[in-house]
Amino acid sequence: MTLEMQDICKSFGVVRVLKNVDFSVRGGEIRALIGENGAGKSTLMNLLGGVLQPDSGRMLLDGNPVSFRNPAESLSAGIAFIHQELNLINDLTIYENMFIGRELKKKNGLLDADAMRRQTQEIFDKMDFHLNPMTMVRDLDASYKQIVEIFRALMRNASIIIMDEPTVSLTDSEVERVFDMMRTLKQHGVGIVFISHKLGEVMTICDRFIVLRDGVMVKDGLISETSTHDLAHHMVGHELHIESARRDYEREREILRVENLSDETAFRGVSFAVHAGEVLGVTGLLGDGRSELFQTIFGVRGNYEGQIYVEREPVQISSAMQSRRLGIGYVPRNRKENGILRDMSILENGSIVTLPEYQHRGLIDRVRQNLDFDRQVEQLHIKLGKKSDLITSLSGGNQQKVVLAKWLNANPKILVLDNPTQGVDVGAKEEIYHIILKLAGAGVAIVVLSSEVQEIIRLCDRALVMYHGRMLGEVCGDTMNERDIMRLATGGTSAEIGGENE
Ligand SMILES: Nc1ncnc2c1ncn2[C@@H]1O[C@H](COP(=O)(O)OP(=O)(O)OP(=O)(O)O)[C@@H](O)[C@H]1O
Ligand SMILES: [Mg+2]
Repeated sequence: MTLEMQDICKSFGVVRVLKNVDFSVRGGEIRALIGENGAGKSTLMNLLGGVLQPDSGRMLLDGNPVSFRNPAESLSAGIAFIHQELNLINDLTIYENMFIGRELKKKNGLLDADAMRRQTQEIFDKMDFHLNPMTMVRDLDASYKQIVEIFRALMRNASIIIMDEPTVSLTDSEVERVFDMMRTLKQHGVGIVFISHKLGEVMTICDRFIVLRDGVMVKDGLISETSTHDLAHHMVGHELHIESARRDYEREREILRVENLSDETAFRGVSFAVHAGEVLGVTGLLGDGRSELFQTIFGVRGNYEGQIYVEREPVQISSAMQSRRLGIGYVPRNRKENGILRDMSILENGSIVTLPEYQHRGLIDRVRQNLDFDRQVEQLHIKLGKKSDLITSLSGGNQQKVVLAKWLNANPKILVLDNPTQGVDVGAKEEIYHIILKLAGAGVAIVVLSSEVQEIIRLCDRALVMYHGRMLGEVCGDTMNERDIMRLATGGTSAEIGGENE
């Protein structure tokens, strides 16, 4: 099947988001759609997915004009859409989510739960993902939800699959398995649209690419004839400066230390310390427990055993308010579920943490609130219409920047960032790295949780690697490398790292 979009225009109010865009994808190819945050990628795909309707332009399937009034029409034309923001129903099990809208029925018309469970299990087994189809989606970590979403689209026998940033919260080895699936689909003649800010992934898996910049198509070409450097250049329209990150920090001033921390399920016997001015990385594969560990330290997850010290004072943390008072800031990983308040404005979202400080005798100091937020908008280059618009009107990457902004305003002593550059474009990523290092330079202790090994190496002075809830080892300094990190992340011991390569 060949899908073409011709001369597509789309505006929101007076803002023209897509300007005469041409786009196409053929069966049997993987087509990259790239561009900066807010360039219009998701909007373009929302037109294909029937979520939005174009103002003008044509869409053709195998040469025949089509239009989709809603997602169901698009799906029945053979187009499956993996949305940038997760789109599962929390109160259903994995297998129920897999079959929403196309449930299997028995002869008597009743739901065939056994068959749905079995088919779900089969695909997990085939791809070697250890997930129980009976698990409630609510209980899944964001990365697992992402995987369920991907499988769901894959099971729909679609001819065209749109993947809007499917790999944001996956680690390299999981990404590899998703790529394997994509290659198989491609061999079966499926056409795939792949949106990602990870240009390395784009180079690995895609055949052709198209670049949007401010709603205009600026480049259409073959992956074999380009490089990550070129792609980045097309996206931002100018050269990017990438500085090296390493610096010195004062090791003496310990800000946070945990000793022998355990909860009942996700992590056991964890000990580490982080110092003023230090950037500490924590990484591992799915199920490593790093997010749960820091949610606990931030007081949003419940009971623990072991001891937490803030600036060498023993503390007992049981709520986010308390950890905030102790100077701990925390940017969670799953923006949609934990990071943003969907029915609040951009400004409200961006100043929620500092709101108590703006209040005086029941009145809010609006001037200060606005000034503080404006500074972050400028510093982070947040692309927005009006501050009073809903946060959901922002592109995914710009929502992420607002989540970061609210913590930057709060001047924490220690800032824990879980996947801080999830979904942000190459240019903005450099900006965020720069800000993290600037904060560290000013004496803030930073903890970066990340599934991207390259990000850890680039940004961190030292990194801890977790495996199934245990701290398996530490890598640091100039000797930090991908091989050692991966070896620990897959359960190897510290003694093995630095040894001979097999
Ligand atoms: N429902 C909406 N109402 C108003 N403006 C919107 C709406 N949806 C998107 N926009 C605006 O359209 C522009 C393009 O957004 P879009 O989500 O398509 O960007 P994107 O390329 O997918 O970015 P990202 O990489 O951050 O996901 C942005 O400026 C965004 O603020
Ligand atoms: Mg998007």
